[in-house]
Amino acid sequence: MSYQTKKKMLVTCALPYANGPIHLGHMLEHIQADIWVRYQRMQGHQVYFICADDAHGTPIMLKAQQLGISPEKMIHKINIEHQKDFSGFNISYDNYCSTHSEENRALVMKIYQRLKKNGLIKLRTISQLFDQKKKIFLPDRFVKGNCFKCFSPDQYGDHCEACGASYNPTDLINPRSVISGSKPVLRESEHIFLNLPAVGEQLYSWICSGSLQKKTANKLLEWFKSGLKQWDICRDAPYFGFKIPDMPGKFFYVWMDAPIGYMAAFQDLCKKRNDICFDEFWNINSKTELYHFIGKDIIYFHCLFWPAILEGSQFRKPTNLFVHGYVTINGARMSKSRGTFIKASTYLAHLDADCLRYYYATKSSTCISDIDLNLKDFVQRFNVDIVNKIINLAARSASFINKRFNNRLSDVICDDNLYATFINAETSIGKSFHDRETSRATREIITLADLANRYIDKQAPWMIAKQKNSEINLHNVCSMGIQLFRILMIYLKPILPALAKRSELFLSTSLSWDLLSKPLLSHKICSFEILFSRIKEEQIMEIIKQSLIKKNI
Ligand code: MSP
Ligand code: ZN
Repeated sequence: MSYQTKKKMLVTCALPYANGPIHLGHMLEHIQADIWVRYQRMQGHQVYFICADDAHGTPIMLKAQQLGISPEKMIHKINIEHQKDFSGFNISYDNYCSTHSEENRALVMKIYQRLKKNGLIKLRTISQLFDQKKKIFLPDRFVKGNCFKCFSPDQYGDHCEACGASYNPTDLINPRSVISGSKPVLRESEHIFLNLPAVGEQLYSWICSGSLQKKTANKLLEWFKSGLKQWDICRDAPYFGFKIPDMPGKFFYVWMDAPIGYMAAFQDLCKKRNDICFDEFWNINSKTELYHFIGKDIIYFHCLFWPAILEGSQFRKPTNLFVHGYVTINGARMSKSRGTFIKASTYLAHLDADCLRYYYATKSSTCISDIDLNLKDFVQRFNVDIVNKIINLAARSASFINKRFNNRLSDVICDDNLYATFINAETSIGKSFHDRETSRATREIITLADLANRYIDKQAPWMIAKQKNSEINLHNVCSMGIQLFRILMIYLKPILPALAKRSELFLSTSLSWDLLSKPLLSHKICSFEILFSRIKEEQIMEIIKQSLIKKNI
């Protein structure tokens, strides 16, 4: 470890919208990122991990209206709930903010001025659908009508779910406003645009020079080929967001201020702690690393718009973006009617966070395909791998240490080869974690657990205990089981932080990667108490039942 240079990294998850609860789909990203961050911290790197709520935009404004409260009040309430959910899943954020903050407003203004100075802001008049009843311009998702290609009814203004066609809301036949039901009319409005093509060359070289996942890079290059377009960063009042300073009645589009929210959340952290410097992380020549974990649906925003904003305002660009696929449950999209739209809070009321963390870990890699949370497989996987193989290893080794040896481990490692196999796996397991091939890491760890259990089975301490003059042998074999359990738990610590904490209490030691090769010789442990119970089918049924009954607001 000591020969490796310590890195400084800033890691983010996409900012969840502040108009609904965190669900198990969101949790994939936060869990993937948290495992990676915890691993990097265990390697001694300086990692700052931040997130915030994305609090602006039309859907948030309308939702607050629906609830009859101010958007400020709603986003405040939801922010508290989101933070509770993330800490319930042990997501180790250093800071969690909201994009509706003074820091963010100031940064957005600063960046806007720089973009303007650099000639990247263009004015243009556009025509948009307008709801005369509600006196509001309609975002694509708030217009429905018949698809102009296949005539399917009830399609959103951006694309047809029946035939897959993409279009503008003005293309719809018989369009109507989702908000009032009235027929929208076309109305002109002057908007500002970010001149994306002007930074096209820099973006192109960023895409090619970076270490983006292949699929992401390919997607981006496709977009490049079809030509970069000017990006509308303006919305008309009424809108919940930041006002554009020199344009009365106009606001910045939520996707303009949302990624700047990453910077603002970091700046807020710098304010709280005086050992971190904002400029060191965001200056154009920064030597630090910046990573964004995002879902595949928001690649465009993060890989084109966001770097363009940064490029155009002389800030550093991301080191890399880690893209994941969508979570499906039992092979289908999460659905309220099937009870599979599972809120984080509903899950946490019935199950330990570590169970989902483990399952997602076994499914995570650099691949962008969707990830299925099959509930049967979930129960099985956790019970077999963690309860049967990891917890059981500790339980059966500890019982003799507790009963016969006054909780003290022996002073030797009685199987050097097996011990060496466990230690030597460090390089490969570490690489798997680092490369975000977490699924591979779990397989490597469970393979070791199988070896450890086979060792105990073969030695059969319960048989040794019955033999005469077998105390030393019994002591050594059971101690060996505990030594191996300790190593397994060091490897599992980024994935299972709560179990790791309980194991630390049981082992009376801290599970640290640095100490991997230092066995606990003649060390006193504590009495074994059940570290984890099996997941029961009934717990899953209860979660589904509650997800069916409860309205997800
Ligand atoms: N507010 C934007 C992000 C702004 S970042 C500057 C947003 N919010 S979101 O709440 O819709 O999604 C937040 C993240 O959760 C995204 O990365 C999205 O891909 C991810 N997921 C939302 N639903 C998901 C699943 N069902 N499965 C996996 N990830 C999903 O987009
Ligand atoms: Zn169609």
